[in-house]
Amino acid sequence: MTLSDGSLQTQAQSAQRGGHDIRRVVYNEAEIEQRVREMGREITEHFTGSEALADGSSLLVLGLLKGSFIFLADLVRRINLPVQVDFLVASSYGSGTVSSGDVKLVYDPKASLEGRHVVIVEDIIDSGHTLRRLLPILAEREPASLDVCTLLHKRLVTLEHEARWVGFDCPNEFLVGYGLDHAENFRHLPYIASM
Ligand code: IMP
Ligand code: MG
Repeated sequence: MTLSDGSLQTQAQSAQRGGHDIRRVVYNEAEIEQRVREMGREITEHFTGSEALADGSSLLVLGLLKGSFIFLADLVRRINLPVQVDFLVASSYGSGTVSSGDVKLVYDPKASLEGRHVVIVEDIIDSGHTLRRLLPILAEREPASLDVCTLLHKRLVTLEHEARWVGFDCPNEFLVGYGLDHAENFRHLPYIASM
């Protein structure tokens, strides 16, 4: 057995991936933690001092499942404001790695969005199909503001409603870990890797 040397080749790390090899680690745990901490601060600053939450209402953070679950959990703990959390489930990918472009809302948040300050939390923006289809549906519910916070952006497209907060402009590779999957595997890896 090799000793841990940062290259993720130890037996335990390989076991966590079910023995699958990864090409390389794109963002390690420390890099992700630092960037998420900064993003929490940026969101806090954006909504502090403005009239945004002056009436004592809380920010509504909506995580797009499943990919955002780890990012959202870490992010909300870095937002120094009253926050409520709910989720959305939009299905867009099958088990393959190519976007079908067909987006369905299969779970809708219970909370009303009307008059609320809403932040959508996404794991990664690839083709942009998901957000292009989803945002108009949510905008119709008349939130006071509607912003997108994504951990990763491949920058393949420019969206009409562009993400206000982007963690990393990432390479155009298929990424897994920290919530991102390949056929439902690898979501639990604490780092982001290229397959
Ligand atoms: P889009 O609609 O093409 O922008 O992609 C939206 C969703 O596809 C993301 O929220 C992810 O769940 C998934 N996705 C896109 N690119 C990747 C990737 O590189 N790895 C894992 N999932 C991805
Ligand atoms: Mg997703």
